[in-house]
Amino acid sequence: MEIKKVRGFQDIYGKEAKKYRYIVDTARNIFENYNFEEIILPYIEDISLFIRSVGEATDIVQKEMYTFEDKGGRKVALRPEGTASAVRAFIENKLYTKGSYHKLFYEGAMFRYERPQAGRYRQFHQIGAEIFGVETPLADAELIKMVKDLLDRLSINARLEINTLGDFESRKRYIQTLKEYLNKTKENLCDVCKTRIDTNPLRVLDCKVKACKQSIKDAPKLIDFLPEESLKRYQRLKEYLKELKIEFVENPRLVRGLDYYTDTVFEFVSDEIGAQGTIAAGGRYDNLVEQLGGPPTPALGFAAGIERLMILLKQTPPEKQLTVIIPMIQEFEPQALKLASLLRKKDLRTELLLKTGSLKSKMKTANKLGAKYVIFLHEKPELKDMETGEQEIFQTEEDLVDVLLKRTTQTS
Ligand code: HAM
Repeated sequence: MEIKKVRGFQDIYGKEAKKYRYIVDTARNIFENYNFEEIILPYIEDISLFIRSVGEATDIVQKEMYTFEDKGGRKVALRPEGTASAVRAFIENKLYTKGSYHKLFYEGAMFRYERPQAGRYRQFHQIGAEIFGVETPLADAELIKMVKDLLDRLSINARLEINTLGDFESRKRYIQTLKEYLNKTKENLCDVCKTRIDTNPLRVLDCKVKACKQSIKDAPKLIDFLPEESLKRYQRLKEYLKELKIEFVENPRLVRGLDYYTDTVFEFVSDEIGAQGTIAAGGRYDNLVEQLGGPPTPALGFAAGIERLMILLKQTPPEKQLTVIIPMIQEFEPQALKLASLLRKKDLRTELLLKTGSLKSKMKTANKLGAKYVIFLHEKPELKDMETGEQEIFQTEEDLVDVLLKRTTQTS
């Protein structure tokens, strides 16, 4: 019986793989221009890392983590996100001793056991960045600008939504009041939200069910509970965004699904891909480093879902054209191998046609592959220009390569 891929997992190949690589390369280029350094993080972490950072009561930890015991009896999880690992690495490698602040980026697979649908998978890929050690909301503005630059470079339109969650203390007071309010309107909430009142009441605020949306309309607002300092920071961030001419909408219901956030949170949302419209999201997490055993360190970051960017990417990624095809002829096999290797060294995309068969069938394949030139190896090598149909015989392979290189540099 044929074995199929596991539900929620994908093969990314052909044009899609090119899009994937193009997005990652573009992001890497932009992030490096902002002077971020790459960090390559493990796929597996101690399960308690996510419980203590993402949060015990969150959907991710409660329902979505791939967890198992390894052969040494360690309880581990496939990473559902990158921030927790980046913070662990920051602390474990004492990066805080190596400079006053740090800017890191990462890319790779994340795993969440969610219900698969368009734009939502159980293995998906993120490209994300984190800044450690900077308190000023200038950093928030610069991070948002970097994400915006990436989306602009990819010609992807998205609405920026921002909010502030304040500090843990004021949020605690707010949650208490919110709980009282929700308990009063409990009858009108969906079943999931009924249970969320006790476990994670903030999540009720961004529930998509109509009845829930309706019943929280007059709910108390977090902003009324925030300390002066948070409101000031938020105000400054908005001013910076205006300076940078980045449009945004304030969404007081934006709470995010991870517990570590403080103050700024933001999401870039597209209306073009249905329910899973959030393509990049992040915020501040000023307590997390300390909470995980490091020195008090303000921090912030974001991550974008590569698959969602791929759905929205309309551009065809630039691609190196196939320049040469060399059909194999039995008596010239070693020459063909050597010539192909030489052309590749000269940076020409070259296909050695390893198929056996008639010349006619080889030419058919050559046409299909769409190379600009075909080289036939006889006693004397011959170059055929597939666009003009011109054929030319050379004394030696070296002569042919010289002419070919001249022609390809002229046309490129
Ligand atoms: P997140 O909102 O959980 O945040 O995920 C960030 C992005 O990853 C989402 O906006 C979405 O584009 C993509 N994503 C999430 N789940 C899936 C899925 N199942 N299938 C496809 N794409 C998905 C975080 O992960 C935080 N670590 C972001 C952050 C970094 N905050 C601070 N620093």
